[in-house]
Amino acid sequence: MALSAKRYTITAALPYTNGPIHIGHLAGVYVPADIYSRYLRAQKKDVAFICGSDEHGVAISIKAKKEGVTPKEIIDKYDGMIRKSFVQLGISFDNYSRTSAKIHHETASEIFTKMNGAGQFIEEVTEQLYDPEVNQYLADRFVTGTCPKCSHTEAYGDQCEQCGSSLNATELINPKSTLSGAEPILKETKHWFLPLDQYEDFMKKWVIEGHKDDWKPNVYGQVKSWVDEGLRPRAVTRDLDWGIPVPAKGADGKVLYVWFDAPIGYISSTKEWAAKNNKDWEPYWKDEETSLVHFIGKDNIVFHCIIFPCILKAAGDYILPENVPANEFLNLEGNKISTSKNWAVWLHEYLEEFPGQEDVLRYVLTANSPETKDNDFTWKDFQARNNNELVAIFGNFINRVSVLTQKYYTGSVPARKDLTKEDIEALKKMKAFPAIIGQSIQRYRFREASQELINLARLGNKYLAEQEPWKLIKIDPIRVETIMNIALQIAAALATVSEPFLPHSAKKLRTILNISNPTEWNDISTSDDLLVSGHIIGKQELLFAKVEDKTILAQLNKLEATKKKNMNDNFELSPVKENISFDEFSALDLRTGTIIAAEKIKKTKKLLHLKVDLGFEIRTIVSGIAESYSPEEMIGKKVTVLANLNSRTIKGVESQGMLLMTENKEGKLIVIGPEDENMGNGFEIN
Ligand code: MF3
Ligand code: ZN
Repeated sequence: MALSAKRYTITAALPYTNGPIHIGHLAGVYVPADIYSRYLRAQKKDVAFICGSDEHGVAISIKAKKEGVTPKEIIDKYDGMIRKSFVQLGISFDNYSRTSAKIHHETASEIFTKMNGAGQFIEEVTEQLYDPEVNQYLADRFVTGTCPKCSHTEAYGDQCEQCGSSLNATELINPKSTLSGAEPILKETKHWFLPLDQYEDFMKKWVIEGHKDDWKPNVYGQVKSWVDEGLRPRAVTRDLDWGIPVPAKGADGKVLYVWFDAPIGYISSTKEWAAKNNKDWEPYWKDEETSLVHFIGKDNIVFHCIIFPCILKAAGDYILPENVPANEFLNLEGNKISTSKNWAVWLHEYLEEFPGQEDVLRYVLTANSPETKDNDFTWKDFQARNNNELVAIFGNFINRVSVLTQKYYTGSVPARKDLTKEDIEALKKMKAFPAIIGQSIQRYRFREASQELINLARLGNKYLAEQEPWKLIKIDPIRVETIMNIALQIAAALATVSEPFLPHSAKKLRTILNISNPTEWNDISTSDDLLVSGHIIGKQELLFAKVEDKTILAQLNKLEATKKKNMNDNFELSPVKENISFDEFSALDLRTGTIIAAEKIKKTKKLLHLKVDLGFEIRTIVSGIAESYSPEEMIGKKVTVLANLNSRTIKGVESQGMLLMTENKEGKLIVIGPEDENMGNGFEIN
């Protein structure tokens, strides 16, 4: 594989500004896109790495409505937050724009107008879902229902997140308004439809035949199955008040569908960048020698592989994506990441809680990237990857090299003398790494690439461990000069090839080695001296810090608290039962009692065999509380007993009554007894 394009337009999915960025976004899109872009720049390629905020659409309207603020307040808040956190993580966008920007409104309107003028839409009055309670048409996230393809009960009006199908709202089974909960009615309205059915041949040729071998199987497979099923016309306008007004006659009160305007945001962001930098934006979108690559998550495949390419084709003279390396999803501690449930590791919080450890997150998300299947982020794995790989391999090697160089040569790089077979071998292997890592990156195999990076550090560690300069220094100091020289070359190679993955650490490493102009990526394989003898390296410092158990525990506790809170929020008290008479109540014989013996009933999970002192007699009661109380906890407990309940034999034991209990929000049973410790047994409760 060669990087033969003249220039590269790299896009990362525009995040919705209805919430902050979390690790799922990072692992799926931004970290791999950044590694790719940084790598291309290291190859001296002409790169435009483009992103921006996706600020229209229903997700934002809903959030604004919920919080009682304007959409503008929502997008300003999250756009600011997202920008800042991307910068801190070192995501090296060449431009980060917003779809609320003037340039974007103009660009999207222009493209729509051009397509409309060329007769590329079908204008049609059709029946659409309408909420009669709030008087609004329902599309996209304003409506949920059962997916006609996979029966998922919470599919949205434009997409099912379970099976990934793109849907029209009217296809949902049992639709329900997310605004009022009302059952929608059908009401006529006019919309502009992109006749995707007319693009089937184009799709077959371009993707099904054209990218069979170079697109990721998960992406190719999805596109193929949709095309095989047959494409249907799709409305690109909406009856909404938040978005880009439809620039056409008879379109009052209508805006462009967010998935029509958002991908065009890549183009407007490129325009904004070009204007700022005195460049021409057009080659980045129109020259056949440009390679356009979209980094996205799997829920965006249909939009980037079918709808947007059809728009680009229809709009004329645009290039099509060369590749769309979509990732699968990242879960968190075994559960699906969810913004609404706050089940996420939020980037802005991470940056605050792990200052100076930005690269650790980048590394862990890369090493455990959901490239070919969904993956799980766990804090234990985060700690292990940091401590066992970054600290123990990469950091340890650099530390040994810098400490020994300071100690033996007060920081001056010694010269190489005669080389042994092992020396030659180590240098040869080192020189091969830039190409190995580069090949993996070019194939979008970022996990593999990150492991090869660690392998380069491993090579350095192994070399030092075998050569043992710390032993030889007393008996053969000349030999040690050669060993240390070679180790320093490997350290310098790491400073170059770690940059796309770990930009903050690469910078720190350059300070440790005191190099302002590290050897170029492509020169490592031919250079004899990445560090020349006599060069004075910088002060020793640790490249990576250990993550302690208590840090991990704090994060796990935070998630635990989220879980609890979600449980409480979802807790509903049961409705009051039908009234009874006083006589019916009096019929219950409730007594105070004390548990005097308790043991687990064998081969059951829930049952305890209890002996209860009721004052006038000792009763046996079988109670299903073993998951909430141990036998030891029960002994001595004051309880309330329903004493005149018919007896019942459970697991061979005759149970003569019942304990009064309730269940708390976590599902734990709580025994209800008299509050007074000294309360005697057998007293009547009425
Ligand atoms: N905002 C969308 C999401 O988070 C992605 C938009 S990508 C673009 O799923 F192509 F539309 F820009
Ligand atoms: Zn579905």
